[in-house]
Amino acid sequence: MIRTNGILKDKHVMIVGGSSGIGLATAKQAKAEGAIVTIVGFNPDQTERIAKENEFEWRAADITKQETIKVALSDVRQVDHLVLLAGTFVAGTVLEADIDYLHKAFDERIWGALYIIRSLDEMLSQDASITFTSGVLADRPGPGTAILAAASSAVESLARGLALELAPRRVNTVSPGTTDSPLLSKSLGSGREAFINSMKEKLPLKRVATTDQVALAILFFMTNEIMTGETVHVDGGQRLI
Ligand SMILES: NC(=O)c1ccc[n+]([C@@H]2O[C@H](COP(=O)([O-])OP(=O)(O)OC[C@H]3O[C@@H](n4cnc5c(N)ncnc54)[C@H](OP(=O)(O)O)[C@@H]3O)[C@@H](O)[C@H]2O)c1
Repeated sequence: MIRTNGILKDKHVMIVGGSSGIGLATAKQAKAEGAIVTIVGFNPDQTERIAKENEFEWRAADITKQETIKVALSDVRQVDHLVLLAGTFVAGTVLEADIDYLHKAFDERIWGALYIIRSLDEMLSQDASITFTSGVLADRPGPGTAILAAASSAVESLARGLALELAPRRVNTVSPGTTDSPLLSKSLGSGREAFINSMKEKLPLKRVATTDQVALAILFFMTNEIMTGETVHVDGGQRLI
């Protein structure tokens, strides 16, 4: 579902994690609304291919590496809307999982975000929006996801704090529920279909979110100029079950 009212005409939208899933859906919607879109992905070949197919600008960098991010963003033009989506599914119990691996949950969502915001600094326009991504785990953690849940909650707190620190720039968070994106295949492999079906059975709406539905909420934050310090849940009632 792509609206085309030109509401982002000539705005520069940077989507970190824009080469796949929710980020790619957001990039396509922003472009359809007239934006100039830069995507940032991890894998250079995939990011370049997606960018060329969709006429986006692109950068590839590991957001958990401060120096790499600084170099990748050094020649970026002024950013009007920044969307932070890059992340992997970090699962493992506190007692058993490798500690360095568990660190990734925070490195990607908290420190990575800070590296990007600090690298952009004054290139973030004064009326810019920044949209973070948390996730339903922030409210409904499960066994083996305590650290990812903690990182997701931290994203929401960080966004509220930054809404004050970075004002008049606006800072918000979108919290998706289970969303049918490539992340599910990456993390569940052949178990993906069974997982989606079991979620559908439990959810009030009997369906999981599409990447376009989550992207619509991100565009809402970009374009509604009174929204700041807020979290919107796009989860089909997943927090209620
Ligand atoms: N899908 C869900 O059910 C769901 C639910 C709740 C929250 N979320 C959160 O929403 C965000 C986006 O998820 P998605 O489903 O759209 O995932 P996705 O399809 O796997 O896309 C993830 C994106 O992040 C990029 N990325 C990952 N690690 C990176 C790194 N270290 N440096 C730079 N880029 C990196 C990937 O780049 P490459 O493609 O080049 O690797 C890709 O563009 C994630 O933070 C996820 O935790 C997702």
